[in-house]
Amino acid sequence: MTGFLTETPSVFQEKAPAQLREHAAAALTRARRRSTTLTDAVGDEDLVRQHSKLMSPLVWDLAHIGSQEELWLVRDVGGREPLRPDIDDLYDAFQHPRADRPSLPLLGPAEARRYVGEVRAKAFEVLEHAPLEGRRLTESAFAFGMITQHEQQHDETMLATHQLRRGEPVLHAPAAPGARGGPLPAEVLVPGGPFLMGTSVEPWALDNERPAHEKHVDAFFIDTTPVTNGEFIEFLESGGYDQRQWWSERGWEYRMAHDITAPRFWRRESRGWWRTRFGADERVPADQPVVHVSFYEAEAYAAWAGKRLPTEAEWEKAARFDPATGRSRRYPWGDEEPAPEHANLGQAHLSPAAAGAYPAGASALGVHQLIGDVWEWTSTDFHGYPGFAAFPYREYSEVFFGPEYKVLRGGSFGTDAAAIRGTFRNWDFPVRRQIFSGFRCARDGDGV
Ligand SMILES: [Fe+2]
Repeated sequence: MTGFLTETPSVFQEKAPAQLREHAAAALTRARRRSTTLTDAVGDEDLVRQHSKLMSPLVWDLAHIGSQEELWLVRDVGGREPLRPDIDDLYDAFQHPRADRPSLPLLGPAEARRYVGEVRAKAFEVLEHAPLEGRRLTESAFAFGMITQHEQQHDETMLATHQLRRGEPVLHAPAAPGARGGPLPAEVLVPGGPFLMGTSVEPWALDNERPAHEKHVDAFFIDTTPVTNGEFIEFLESGGYDQRQWWSERGWEYRMAHDITAPRFWRRESRGWWRTRFGADERVPADQPVVHVSFYEAEAYAAWAGKRLPTEAEWEKAARFDPATGRSRRYPWGDEEPAPEHANLGQAHLSPAAAGAYPAGASALGVHQLIGDVWEWTSTDFHGYPGFAAFPYREYSEVFFGPEYKVLRGGSFGTDAAAIRGTFRNWDFPVRRQIFSGFRCARDGDGV
């Protein structure tokens, strides 16, 4: 590996154990605040109901968060007695598909709240005393970081359940910001050559982000911002959903089988395109990134636009590569943790923000809004990097490797800062669109 393609040790690694404990406690507390908001927003009936076959009842997510925390922090790291060994099986996501979860003898809302509170109290006791070295699981408080990310991921899943729920709006947040600064170029040229993909030093990075490895990418152009609703409407209104030539074979089969004619939650009215968002009706805002589209719709739009989706490596290079130093940054804007001016994260706003709303979050190459707003579909199947090793268990990522899943990058407005990085990888079936998914396009930089 050439000299410049080495990773700078993370600022995180220099934290003293007391600081690490404080950092982990704050992250766990923030996650719990969000879980509480999402589950206190509705009554018991809504907590136990299944709002869509794609989702668990909210009360299952809540107790499952506690169950994973009990397994890893209380029992494994803490070496403590189990609190509720009798419910392990109920909350094992691999035992029960989502569609079956409502029929299980789940803890009721009051019981689930009590359970997660008891587990958290014990986890905090463990955090106070556990050695943060000597074992990979506890090195740099990894297990606490993993459980924080797990809870935040379920908070995003619960937010998606709220989007699927029918009824009056119950979640509230200030509107996302509009564009700031001048007009942006449509595309950015990313130079060809190697860059460092993935990470070996980021302490809370998960197994699938590791290890760091050199990756060559040919020169390419990438859209400066994600594709907006206004742009997507042009595709839609030019008949894109009815023109077979823009769709892959599988994409077309899916489009026809499910009669997909617009992004999920949209409807056409005489006065234009409208959508429902967390129970409220609104005109589709032209300047915001499109959200709730499947991989196949993203792929069709890109073909119609004379482009394609970026590969995962292209996305990461656009996000992390600094041409001045050759280094890969932790985030597009640099190495510092996300702040509100960098990205639309953490459910601070309950929609994507306008394209151009986060100039302070742009990458070294000038690509905007790679982190936050919408998860971005890439053309890459989910797989392990060269040298991948499952940790702490195969079911975390390895069992999902293969051609059925496409990688999504960058996080959405529903993702917390603790659960996103320049190296973070998400994956889902290409037909999924209840998630907060959008995309941007790329094209070859032939001859550049
Ligand atoms: Fe989970």
